[in-house]
Amino acid sequence: MVLRKAKFIFRCLPLISMLYRSLLRPALFHLPPETAHELTLHTVARVLRSERARAFVARRLAPRENTSAFGAIERFGLRFKNPLGLAAGFDKNGEAAAALAAFGFGFIEVGTVTRHAQEGNARPRIFRLPEDEAIINRAGFNNQGAHVLVENLKSQKLRGVPLGINIGKSRIVEIENATQDYLASFEIVYDAADYVAVNVSSPNTPNLRELQRANALDELLSALQTRNRELAAQKRRAPLPLLVKIAPDVSPHEIETFVDVARRNRLAGIIATNTTTSRADLKTAKTVIESYGAGGLSGRPLRARSTQVIAATFRAVEQARAQNQLKIIGVGGIFTAEDAWEKICAGASLVQIYTGLIYKGIVAVRHINEGLVRIMRREGFKNLDEAVGCRVEQFAAA
Ligand SMILES: Cc1cc2nc3c(=O)[nH]c(=O)nc-3n(C[C@H](O)[C@H](O)[C@H](O)COP(=O)(O)O)c2cc1C
Repeated sequence: MVLRKAKFIFRCLPLISMLYRSLLRPALFHLPPETAHELTLHTVARVLRSERARAFVARRLAPRENTSAFGAIERFGLRFKNPLGLAAGFDKNGEAAAALAAFGFGFIEVGTVTRHAQEGNARPRIFRLPEDEAIINRAGFNNQGAHVLVENLKSQKLRGVPLGINIGKSRIVEIENATQDYLASFEIVYDAADYVAVNVSSPNTPNLRELQRANALDELLSALQTRNRELAAQKRRAPLPLLVKIAPDVSPHEIETFVDVARRNRLAGIIATNTTTSRADLKTAKTVIESYGAGGLSGRPLRARSTQVIAATFRAVEQARAQNQLKIIGVGGIFTAEDAWEKICAGASLVQIYTGLIYKGIVAVRHINEGLVRIMRREGFKNLDEAVGCRVEQFAAA
């Protein structure tokens, strides 16, 4: 029954993009943002619960361009079928990870999850800015805790789509004790993750961004990496790739520090960027923005800044001669293949999307992958790796 419904919906695939914009999005946008999100996530998880339904959707949504043009996408010991991943925060509890993978993502990042289950900030805490194609959120790591995430993931197979788990600090834990709290989450999620992302950049957990300071970051990453090696030795496997997610509101000097700390602690990569606290250059009326209050801004207005941070990070990685070790995952304001391409040219080896999905719908995943193949062909690149960082100077100077 469910499969038949899914078949019916996806038989009309060419219409889906238009239908999303003309019918589904207006309907969802009538609901409060968080209600719309929860409804979508639960529906997707339910409709695509069976492997058959997911395989069917995956076939229907597969890019029509030949994605073997990307060449082998190997990053930190993992293999990716395409470079576009789902960013953290979309599926905080990992309840729909396999279903979301069926939509054609190259990888899925779930979380942010914390050691302790927590409610997050009071609702409403997510706001749409349609004029800017942006979102302001101060969710505050609402999640059911690391144990529940791992339970949710147990029954799901992602079939060749790497799974990242993003961990953050529990709100009840003081910032001075953050390391122990991250370590606890890390141990809980260890066996379920292909990589772990350490979130020190959300603007919505008080004092969290203090962990981006050199000493604090060094202490945290060094403790996690030590435990990573111990667990890997116990389990007779390679240590997990460990990445750190950084804010866009940072200076060039801070970026150099992140790269230095990440390199010294043998991290696999840097995710740039999280949401911004800036409210510059928005079309939405100032009074409206002010009425939404504090939170992180994502979507279109973040695009250029995030690309600039990616370029500055890539340059610092090159200067440290760490290109083979430290990969950049670029995220912030990707709506189209051109946006994703810019991030790759600025130095991103992989990219992620969140807000673009809310405004464009899930077909954006296919469109972006198809568009990337076309752009690569047009620009004469033999594979994706050749393009990584090809215009770093241009974007670093922007
Ligand atoms: C509603 C919402 C919730 C988010 N929650 C998280 C989170 O829990 N952890 C995290 O690392 N990033 C979170 N993010 C940030 C995204 O992962 C991403 O870094 C940011 O939104 C920029 O990408 P975008 O412009 O494509 O949305 C969240 C973003 C939004 C819009």
